[in-house]
Amino acid sequence: MADITTEVLIIGTGPAGSVAAALLSSYGIENVAINRYHWLANTPRAHITNQRTMEVLRDLGKEVEDEVYLNAMDQSIMGENVFCESLAGEEIGRMKSWGTHPLSKAEHMLSSPTFMNDLPQTFMEPILFKTACKRGTRARMSTEYKSHVQDAEGVTTTCYDRMTGQELTIRSKYLIGADGGNSLVAENENLPFEGQMGVGGSMNIVFRADLSKYVAHRPSVLYWVMQPGADVGGIGMGLVRCVRPWNEWLIVWGYDINEPAPNVDEAMATDVARQLVGDPELEIELLSANTWTVNDTYATRMSRGRVFIMGDAAHRHPPSNGLGSNTSIQDAFNLAWKLAAVVKGQAGERLLETYSEERAPVAKQIVTRANQSIGEFGPIFEALGMTGGTDITKIKANMDARCDSTPEAEAQREALNKAIAFKKYEFDAHGVEMNQRYRSDATVTDGQIEPDFKLDADLHYQPTTWPGARIPHAWLFDAAGQKHSTLDLAGGGAFTIFTGLGGEAWVEAASKIAKEFGITLNAHVIGPRQEYMDYTGDWARAREVGDSGCIITRPDQHVCWRHDGAPDNAEAELTRVFKTILAR
Ligand code: FDA
Repeated sequence: MADITTEVLIIGTGPAGSVAAALLSSYGIENVAINRYHWLANTPRAHITNQRTMEVLRDLGKEVEDEVYLNAMDQSIMGENVFCESLAGEEIGRMKSWGTHPLSKAEHMLSSPTFMNDLPQTFMEPILFKTACKRGTRARMSTEYKSHVQDAEGVTTTCYDRMTGQELTIRSKYLIGADGGNSLVAENENLPFEGQMGVGGSMNIVFRADLSKYVAHRPSVLYWVMQPGADVGGIGMGLVRCVRPWNEWLIVWGYDINEPAPNVDEAMATDVARQLVGDPELEIELLSANTWTVNDTYATRMSRGRVFIMGDAAHRHPPSNGLGSNTSIQDAFNLAWKLAAVVKGQAGERLLETYSEERAPVAKQIVTRANQSIGEFGPIFEALGMTGGTDITKIKANMDARCDSTPEAEAQREALNKAIAFKKYEFDAHGVEMNQRYRSDATVTDGQIEPDFKLDADLHYQPTTWPGARIPHAWLFDAAGQKHSTLDLAGGGAFTIFTGLGGEAWVEAASKIAKEFGITLNAHVIGPRQEYMDYTGDWARAREVGDSGCIITRPDQHVCWRHDGAPDNAEAELTRVFKTILAR
C-alpha cells in the first residue's frame, strides 16, 4: 500500500513543475508536487520572461500575469545591451535588445497581448507555486525522489522524507520529472540524450551594491565585460547582470573546465566584482556564490509510457537567449491538457505520445541555439584583436587601434559593428521565442503545406493558422467595447472554434461534439453584430480562412485544425478531427 495516492506526481517545484501543477489543478486534476528542499529557488538564475511564457501565465489567470508584471523589471528598461571594458571603463558598443528597438518593439506589440519582462526566478517561483497550491496541488517539501517503477496501471515512486528520515511511497497514474538539469527521473527511465554535459565552466556571484552611477543612464539587464580571460569557459564573456535595479547583481564569469572548479569565497567574489565593475574600492554585500557547468544536451525522447520529463530535465543549455525557464513553462503547457484529457477519459493514451513528438524538437532547437550564441561572441573578440594570446599590453594596443584614423581601423570598426549587431540572434531572437510549430497526431493538417518563413525564422515571428502553430494574436472587441485577444478566447483548458458570419453550422455542431466527446468546446462567431467584432480587420487578415471557415485551437492555444469555408457536414468533419486529436 502506498503512503500517498494521486493522479499525477510531479518531481520538482521549479518553473516547469510549478506550472505543470498549477495547470493540472486548474484543469481539476489531482496532483502532488514534491521538492527535495524546504523551499523554492534561493538564487535568481532565470530572469528573461518572454511573451509566449507570459501568454501561458495569462492563461493561468489575470492575477498571475499581473503579479509577474508588478514584480518584474519593465521591458522598457531591459534593452541597452552594453559591451564595455568594465562598467566604469570605456564603452565599446551597444545594441538595443529584448524587443526595445523600435522595429522589434512593433513586432512584439503586433504578436501578443503580453509583454516581455525581467523577473528573477526567486520572485517567479513563489508566484507559480502559490498558484498551484491555491488551486489544489498538494505540495510536499523536503521530500526527495529516489526511484520509480511503472506498470500497466500506474507508477509507484519511492521517496525519502528528509524531515523524518523515513521512506515514502507515492502511487500515481502518471509521473512528471521536472527535477532539473541533473534529472534522476530521466536517468532512472534511461531516456535517450544527445550532446554533452560540462562543455564550459561558469561561476555565479550574487551581490548587493549600488551601481546606479554606472548604469542608470543606459538601463539594461545585461552589461557585457570584455577583458582578457572573458572568453574562457562560461557563457562567452564576462557578464554583470541586473537582478534588481540597480543595487542587486549577478556576475557570471567563466573558468577553464579542464581545471578544477574554483572555490569562490568572499575574497575572490569581491575581486571579480571589482574587476568587472572597474572600481578597485567597490564594497559588495555577497549574497551567494557558486560554480556551474555549461551543458549542450537534450533528450531525443521526453517520455516513456507513464513517465514524462520537462524543463531542464530534458534540455540542458547555457542561459544565452534566456530560454531555460521559458521553455520549461511552455513544456508544461503542452503536457498538462493532454494529461487532463486522458485522466478524465476524454482522450486515449496515444495523445500522451504527442508530448514528446511536439516538444523534443523544441528541446533540440533551443539547446542548439543557446550554445551557438556563445560561439557568436567570437567575432567581437576577433574584431577587437582580443584573440591569440594573453599578452595584456598587446590586447590593449589591438583594442586601442580601432580609434585610429586609418583604413585598417575603419575596417576594424566595421567588423566590430557587424559582430555586435549579429548578437541579435541572442538578444532579440523573437522568432526563436514565438515560432514553435508542432507536428504530431494532435494536429490535423489535412495535407495543407506548412507555410515557409518569409523572414529569418530565428529573428522574426511569423503568424499563421496552419495546424500546429499557435493561434495568431489579434485584438477583438465585445459589444461593451472591451478588447480581447484571440489568445484570450482560446485556452482556459478548453478547445475553441473560431468562425465568422456564414459559419453557424460549426457552432451548432460544436455543442453536439462537446457532448459526444465529453469535452469543453467553446465556439465564437467573429464579425459585425456578433459576439466579437473585428473592427480593425486584423483577425480577417491573420486567419487565412474565409468568414464561414473554421479554426480550432487546443487548450494550449495551438491550432489543431482549420477549414476554409462552410462545411458540407460540420458534425462529420468535427467528429473525424476530434477522433484523431483525442486518439479515440
Ligand atoms: P529547476 O532546476 O529550476 O527545478 C528543479 C526542481 O526539482 C527544484 O525544485 C529541485 O529542488 C527539484 N529536485 C531536483 N531533484 C529532486 C529530487 N531528487 N527530488 C525532489 N526534488 C528534486 N532561463 C530563462 O528562461 N531566462 C533566463 O534569463 C535565464 N537565465 C539564467 C541565468 C543563469 C545564471 C542560470 C544558471 C540559468 C538561467 N536560466 C534562464 C535557466 C533557468 O534557471 C532554468 O532553465 C530553469 O530553472 C529550469 O526550470 P526547471 O523547473 O526545469 O528546473
